[in-house]
Amino acid sequence: MHGWVIYNGHLQSEAFLTFSQWIHDAGKKLGITIEQRKNNELFVLLEQDKPLMDTLNYQHNPDFVIFIDKDIALAKQLEAIGIPVFNSAQAIATCDNKVDMYPVLHQANIAIPRTVIAPKIFSKANPIQLSSFHYLEDIFTYPFIIKEGYGSYGQQVYLIHNRKELDEKIKEIADRPFLFQEFIGSSCGRDLRIYVVGNEVVAGLARTAQDDFRANVSVGGTVKAHLATEKEKKLAIDAAQAVGADFAGVDLLYDENEEPIVCEVNTSAHIKNIYDYTGVNIAEHIMTWTIRKLKS
Ligand SMILES: Nc1ncnc2c1ncn2[C@@H]1O[C@H](COP(=O)(O)OP(=O)(O)O)[C@@H](O)[C@H]1O
Ligand SMILES: [Mg+2]
Repeated sequence: MHGWVIYNGHLQSEAFLTFSQWIHDAGKKLGITIEQRKNNELFVLLEQDKPLMDTLNYQHNPDFVIFIDKDIALAKQLEAIGIPVFNSAQAIATCDNKVDMYPVLHQANIAIPRTVIAPKIFSKANPIQLSSFHYLEDIFTYPFIIKEGYGSYGQQVYLIHNRKELDEKIKEIADRPFLFQEFIGSSCGRDLRIYVVGNEVVAGLARTAQDDFRANVSVGGTVKAHLATEKEKKLAIDAAQAVGADFAGVDLLYDENEEPIVCEVNTSAHIKNIYDYTGVNIAEHIMTWTIRKLKS
């Protein structure tokens, strides 16, 4: 068997290079060759009467692809020519945009914070009708959360304390998808990152921030290994499966009764920090799962 791992060639991020390398190494351990490919070196020409991917000069197409990037269009085209892609284009797309993700989780009856998706505003809309957004004050009490659809590392998640901040933030991000969400105060500055591969939890981290409501390491959170409870495991697995992910980092919050609820599902969650804190090599789990799935 011969596979590819695809990462983003324009993101010179150590974390993704490591992810890609570890997938390669995990394949080798199982006797499988895995080529590391950059998305920006895979050009797909759509030309009448020619098959997809004809231009690529491949010796042969891979038997499968481990897709750790978010280039959904590329993932779709690989699937279109019959190559199994892990995570699938659909799973990546669902998790890429939180505006798509929360309705999918809700439909699968997964516990999430109360959420309202913002109606679409065209970028040229001027002025924005802010008054209609004030109905949110009947649904949520301040402070509540605004989250952009596309975002990571906590950078596009905002805590809104009053109407002035509400109006300002809406004006600032109006041309992008976003949503409103109840602030889970009992989870302020703490959450769990549970890593699911296939139908099991393989590792967990507890993250805590002293000076921020967000627990992301990138905004100053500290981390320790966390042994997930049965309840946390079930919820994380259910959430990963609801979005169709083969592997995912599922963020959990604690509600006021210390029960877990899902904050989000990440299809390309970093794996090195998990290894640093738990000794678990997620890449090896991903490869074992992938091969098992391909064979079944
Ligand atoms: N509804 C919420 N209530 C309380 N804290 C939240 C809520 N949503 C997010 N957070 C905090 O903000 C962090 C970032 O939010 P998240 O949705 O995971 O976005 P990102 O993709 O940027 O990580 C979470 O890890 C959590 O600590
Ligand atoms: Mg997160």
